[in-house]
Amino acid sequence: MPLIPKHIKDLQPYKPGKPIEEVRREYKLKKIVKLASNENPMGPSPKAVAAMHESLANTHRYPDPGSLTMRQALADRFDVKIENVITGHGSEGIMSVIMRTFLLDDEEVITADATFIGFMVLAHSRGIKIKTVPLKQYRFDLQGIAAQVTEKTKLIYLANPNNPTGTIFSVKEFNEFIKKIPEHVLIILDEAYFEFAQSDPKYPDSMKYRLDNVITLRTFSKAYGLAGIRIGYGFAHDQLICNLLKVKLPFEPSIPAQAAGLAALEDRDFLEQYIQLNRHGLEYFYTLFDKLGIRYVRSHANFVMGIFDSEEYALKLTQRLLEKGIIVRPLGAFGLPHCIRFTTGLNAENEFLAEILPRVL
Ligand SMILES: Cc1ncc(COP(=O)(O)O)c(C=O)c1O
Repeated sequence: MPLIPKHIKDLQPYKPGKPIEEVRREYKLKKIVKLASNENPMGPSPKAVAAMHESLANTHRYPDPGSLTMRQALADRFDVKIENVITGHGSEGIMSVIMRTFLLDDEEVITADATFIGFMVLAHSRGIKIKTVPLKQYRFDLQGIAAQVTEKTKLIYLANPNNPTGTIFSVKEFNEFIKKIPEHVLIILDEAYFEFAQSDPKYPDSMKYRLDNVITLRTFSKAYGLAGIRIGYGFAHDQLICNLLKVKLPFEPSIPAQAAGLAALEDRDFLEQYIQLNRHGLEYFYTLFDKLGIRYVRSHANFVMGIFDSEEYALKLTQRLLEKGIIVRPLGAFGLPHCIRFTTGLNAENEFLAEILPRVL
């Protein structure tokens, strides 16, 4: 159809990890463990669930378009002004607003060649030029990215920790990088997995880099266990935020999403419990993979990337695991077809993987 622009015709849409119900139907399995989508396996915080229930009585009204209570709570927690905070329909929702607000058709974006697919889909949907720089030992090559900047560059996307590798770049690397980036280039620092990485002194917490051209994105989807309700947030210079607020859909996030986010932010015990569970899960996976001779990359997030000999092997292994009731994520769409991402689960779920994996390898 001539109606459809070429860049949309060519667009590869985002394919999420397989949902549990689909696998149950397809393979007629009783027990299914999903270790595929970097979700919190503990469920949402019970306090967030209670807050959502309570908020439902008000859902005949539109949400507060300024999300003032939610933004103020985030401002207080992270020690910035409300004018520096935006909330949206997941952090990916805010990413989409950034692309609509700041990018012109002939401008370019730069990122790594194996990073969060959601960003790549959004960039491709704008039909703009994307330059990708190869990862170095599965890590963002910040110097390589800085070397690609031209007058046409408008946006650099950095995921720290990166998905799907789980790796971080260091304070030192970021300090060197930031000196080389001109002010006309906007840097998205996607910190969707920040809560799992923040205790490492080498991790550059972007809140310490509140520069005019840096936007931090974070989410309630991962550590806070609210992936299904869709709420994320961002921090930036007030001039950037006020222009983003003009473009964003006025009523995102929804009333239950804002209520859930507020309650989850207060439930520090729940957050800490999951961070500990995940720490244990990562160590459990390392030990398991060492024992089975699987190569992997040490992670600063809630998943571990396993490295296999070929795409064929990775796909076969994913399929065999699926047939036994374990959903994991093969990484062809991320540009790492010989790799598989394993999200940490509850202890019993990790143990199920340890039981099944040696049988299917
Ligand atoms: C690096 C990264 N950024 C953003 C997101 C999207 O998060 P949200 O659910 O807040 O849109 C994900 C989800 O997988 C992610 O891995």
